[in-house]
Amino acid sequence: MSKIPAETLDAISARIDATDVIGRYVQLKRRGRKATGLCPFHGERTPSFTVDQEKGLWYCFGCGEGGSVFSFLMKIEGLNFPQAVQRLGEEVGIEVVADDADDPEKLRRDKLRELLERSTQYYAELLHRSPLAESARTYLKARGIASATAQKFRLGWAPESGDALARKLKEAGYQAEDGMDAGVLRERYGKTTDLLRGRLVFPITNGQGKVVAFGGRLIEVVDGSKAPKYLNSPETELYQKREHLYGLSFHRPEISRANEAMVMEGYLDVIAVSQAGFPTAVASLGTALTEEQCRLLSRYARKVHLFYDADRAGISATEKAIELFENAGLLVHIGVMEPGQDPDSVIQEEGPEAFGRIKDSTVGVVEYLIDRKSQEFDMTSRIGKADFAAAVLPAVAKVKDGASRSHYIRSLATRLGVGENSLQAQMQSGGRARVTSGQNSSRARLSSDAGPNRSIQSISRVSSARSSVYAEERLLILLLRRPEWVEFVAERLDPTELSRAELRPLLEVLLRFRSNEKPLTWTDLRDLDPGQEVVWARLSATEAPESTNEDMETLIRDIKRNGLEPRYEEIRRQVLEGFETGEVGPESSLYKEYLDLQQRLKGTKNE
Ligand code: UTP
Ligand code: MN
Repeated sequence: MSKIPAETLDAISARIDATDVIGRYVQLKRRGRKATGLCPFHGERTPSFTVDQEKGLWYCFGCGEGGSVFSFLMKIEGLNFPQAVQRLGEEVGIEVVADDADDPEKLRRDKLRELLERSTQYYAELLHRSPLAESARTYLKARGIASATAQKFRLGWAPESGDALARKLKEAGYQAEDGMDAGVLRERYGKTTDLLRGRLVFPITNGQGKVVAFGGRLIEVVDGSKAPKYLNSPETELYQKREHLYGLSFHRPEISRANEAMVMEGYLDVIAVSQAGFPTAVASLGTALTEEQCRLLSRYARKVHLFYDADRAGISATEKAIELFENAGLLVHIGVMEPGQDPDSVIQEEGPEAFGRIKDSTVGVVEYLIDRKSQEFDMTSRIGKADFAAAVLPAVAKVKDGASRSHYIRSLATRLGVGENSLQAQMQSGGRARVTSGQNSSRARLSSDAGPNRSIQSISRVSSARSSVYAEERLLILLLRRPEWVEFVAERLDPTELSRAELRPLLEVLLRFRSNEKPLTWTDLRDLDPGQEVVWARLSATEAPESTNEDMETLIRDIKRNGLEPRYEEIRRQVLEGFETGEVGPESSLYKEYLDLQQRLKGTKNE
């Protein structure tokens, strides 16, 4: 399957600690031999995500994703298998010689990445040393950006000359086409020119910290000029703007540690805020915030503080962001600035402490909406009050904690001069109206909160379903948890007797390893395909009760019957019809098989 030698994989998995690796992305709480936390792959508020340290497996009962530490890293970092292995190999000091060096696709992407890295270095070199960048240095200074900060964010300067970078890249052996594919060059009137000219350059990085695109800012906005203040790389093979957040790769460790992030609008906001000593800022990239960006951030933080401008556009952006982040399962707080201010200007004009105060006094969604909407509507008229209530109550309805919810209702009731009960009633019907009218925020919330706590899935629920399809899974769950039964099962059941084909390889492996005392690890199952890996992770994560010999025999009997029954039913019809038409006689092999099945089925019945 993979081109990486099996011994390498085994050596790495033997040394990796699953809770360590996964614990960097998910806050895990140890619970016996398992650790649990909030799933980074779907929004949730009660932990359904489990890690089995011993086996090196993870599984989420909420979304049904699971697998090895390798698959975790692949999913969360967007890596392919060899890259994930490489990464973990580095960590434990094992060299991974993956022989995908001849994959043309990969070579191509590597080449574009190198080109972008080279361009970044070229721009940075110019900014810090070239006489051509004097004005840019002056500009940065005036905006209070220290040289060390510029270096940290790898800022650069793109010179005015139309093709400085193009020539540089050509010298380095690249084709014009490479530069265009990487998004740094473009063709104009049959000539290859630089995309960015006379602009301050902001490298945009991916999850691995590699540069994938650039944003460029004019340092002098000339009146009447049509040139936009910011110009950004187009989307390329390496860069999809809906999936990246500016600043994330620089701030990820701090964001993870703090379990919260600050989201703002501009590159310079992120940089200024970071320099002022708040290292958890990110910005969406010149577009409205996307679902993908929210999901990306939700892997590292549970809470976001929004700092959008206080103008009309900023307010509507804030309301959209609240909805998107809440849907991604994040707790949202809003930082309120004076109209016309952004985090950068607050720091510039009033100093880092002033921003710190705003950060410390961010408000929850309900407070924010109450404040906003009371300004938006005429609170002296009855209609205004009704509109206000309609705008705010859905947010109140979403508040999980009963005490806080009552608190809001009480204060709203006072404010509106109505009874708490009538508000309560309006809130409930309002909540429903929102759900049925197709607004997905409340629907998502309702469904993720509904139902019993899924984090503790127990086998009893499975067994109560009594279906013999479950019997096969139950057997595997038992064997994974209680290897003492392996011998017993091996004597009575063959993997081919399972009706669900995807479970057969699992049983085979389990039975093969029966002499082995230690529990199975990923190493033992590394040849399973990814679909089977998830099944395995799920079964491993499920609890298994004590069982008696009798329980086991019943289980095995159910499985056997389950395997035989479909075939028996199929043949039975053929035989009965065949007898009538004379096509099937008592000596035919079909009839013999029918009798045999009948016999065996009887044998599996109520003994
Ligand atoms: P702003 O216009 O608020 O600029 O755009 P800013 O970040 O505060 O920058 P300064 O302080 O004026 O230097 C916010 C973000 O929107 C995107 C950029 O990502 C910018 O950082 N943007 C803005 C563009 O992509 N193109 C534009 O023409 C303007
Ligand atoms: Mn600004």
